[in-house]
Formats: sequence, C-alpha cells, structure tokens
Amino acid sequence: MFMNTDYKIYLAPMEGVTDAPLRKILTKYGNFDSCTSEFIRVTDVPLPKKTLIKEVPELANSSKTDSGTLVRVQFLGDDAKAMLITAQRAVELGATYIDINFGCPSRFVHHSGSMLLKEPELLHDIVSTMRDGLDNSIKLSVKIRTGFADKSECKDIIQAIAVEGVEEIIIHARTRKDLYAKEALDWSVIADMHEYANNIPLVANGDIVCYDSFLRCVEQSLCSRFMIGRAALMIPNIGYVLKQEQQAYSNAQIIAVILEFFELLVELKFQTKSILDRTKQFFGYARINNTDMAAIFKEYCKMQDLTQAYNFLLKKAQVI
Ligand SMILES: Cc1cc2nc3c(=O)[nH]c(=O)nc-3n(C[C@H](O)[C@H](O)[C@H](O)COP(=O)(O)O)c2cc1C
Repeated sequence: MFMNTDYKIYLAPMEGVTDAPLRKILTKYGNFDSCTSEFIRVTDVPLPKKTLIKEVPELANSSKTDSGTLVRVQFLGDDAKAMLITAQRAVELGATYIDINFGCPSRFVHHSGSMLLKEPELLHDIVSTMRDGLDNSIKLSVKIRTGFADKSECKDIIQAIAVEGVEEIIIHARTRKDLYAKEALDWSVIADMHEYANNIPLVANGDIVCYDSFLRCVEQSLCSRFMIGRAALMIPNIGYVLKQEQQAYSNAQIIAVILEFFELLVELKFQTKSILDRTKQFFGYARINNTDMAAIFKEYCKMQDLTQAYNFLLKKAQVI
C-alpha cells in the first residue's frame, strides 16, 4: 500500500560497531543510499588530518565504500569553529557530506551530542557556522533526538537547526532521557515536524527492524527517507527488504556475511581477540528476535581460536 520506489535507506552510525571494515561489508549487501562514520569527537582543538584518515579511510576513495556507497563524516562537539576547521580538513581529504551529531546520549560525551538539545541557540550557532563555512557543494546533515527530556522540545530544536542549505535532518524518535526504552519510541513526533523544517527533508530513525515496522514508520512519520542501525546486522540485506520487498536473508546467509567480515578482519591483521569479539558482536545483534540464531551464537561464543571459529562459520554459512 505504501510502496514507493523513491524511498531512501541509510545505514546509521554506530560507534564501536560500524567502523570502516563493517561499513565495507554492510554496504556491499545492504543496498544503502549512504552510510555514516562513527562519531568523531572534536574539542576546542581542530583534529589533524591523520586522525580523520584513520577514522574514515574511505576519504581516500572519494568518501565512498568499495561498493560505491557514500560515507558521511560525522562530528560531535560544542565548539563550532573547531568543528568547522576539522570538517574543512575532511573535505580537503575527500569528504563530500558532513553530518553533525546532536543525538548521542552517552554520559561520556559531556557538553556535546544530545546534551546540547537543551540549548537550541548553540545548536543553531554550530549548524550555521558549519553551513556558512563549508563550500556549497558539500552536503550537511544534522542528526538529533526528539528532545532532551521531552518530545515537546522537538519543534524548537527543529526550528533552530533548519538552516538554509541543510540537506537532511535525521531524527531518532526518542528523547535523550528515553535512551533506548522500547515503549518511548514515537515516530509520529517526526510527522508533526515537517511543517517546521523549512522544507528540509526529515529522515526517520529508530526501531525499524523488519518490513512491517518499516511500513508503520512510513505511515506514522510521513517520511520517505529512513536510517537503520541495529537491524542492519539482524538483516544484512535490509535495503533490499525495505525498498524491493525481497526476502530477508536466512540465518545461513547472515552467517556468510559474518564469515566475510571475519575474513576481512584477518586480512586487515586485526588481533585474534578482536576478530572473535567483533564477530560475536555481529552475532549479538543478529540473534535479536531470532531464536535459532541465538542458539548458534551461544555455540559460537565457545570458540577459543581463529581456526575453530572460522571452521564453525564455514559449516553454518551458505554462499550468497
Ligand atoms: C552501539 C551504538 C552506537 C551508536 N553510535 C552512534 C554514533 O556514533 N553516532 C550517532 O549519531 N548515533 C549513534 N548511535 C545511534 C544510532 O545511529 C541510531 O540512531 C539508533 O541506534 C536508533 O536506530 P536503530 O533502532 O535503527 O538502531 C549508536 C547506537 C548504538 C546502538
């Protein structure tokens, strides 16, 4: 009923999860219209180029993953000037799309991320400084939650950041206070915000985990652009599932993706512990709402060394 081939599906930034190797794998299978780097924290001192290259190696590839998916470079901070200079350095290195993070709820990010949602004037200052200082050819998006303590704050936040020239506003449909509480999610808040967004397209985010929840989100948010985080590891072909109504991958197909991730980490010379931890982390998301996968995950957690783990995955995987 809501099928529309113009839907855009973006892979969400997830710090500690969607680093460059995983972005490479997920954008190969996910049919995403863009992905975003993990947040890069900027204090009052602009970051050197070498830090940016380390965080976003795709900069050397015109800011695209190997499968050609655009990578937005995300910054988090409260010093507009330092963020702008850092973003300009990213542009010199190849960035074409910058994203500002006002959504991160971590207690460790102090005066930045979603902590700033209490201060619409500062949000406006950061977004305006970035938009004015970056070349017009560079796209800029802003990622927020629906408020700090209450979703009634959303209108003021949207009006503060809906600066001329902003390409998209991405809204995680929870407040900072909600953290990830299931019952707090409310896509309908996004629908109410279109009229305050200065014609800037809004992107709905939060708990889109299957085709059914996608349809509900379309209906409630009145958006045609969506960002998917955790479900990208539950259903690695999620973009095909949502945009083209394809079948979600079977468990054997998901494990084949995990196996490819494993092989990539080996090729990149990650430490043994890190390879096991990262592949277990992938399984940890893939097992959500999936009892068979949860049982396989339990077995995989017993793996002690790389050969044993690799052979286990090989046995369970199916060629995609
Ligand atoms: C482990 C983890 C790390 C995250 N890191 C970031 C981040 O670096 N930047 C950001 O804007 N959001 C971050 N988020 C929030 C996600 O981008 C997304 O807004 C949130 O997970 C809701 O979407 P989902 O229900 O599709 O996962 C993170 C979320 C998780 C679970």
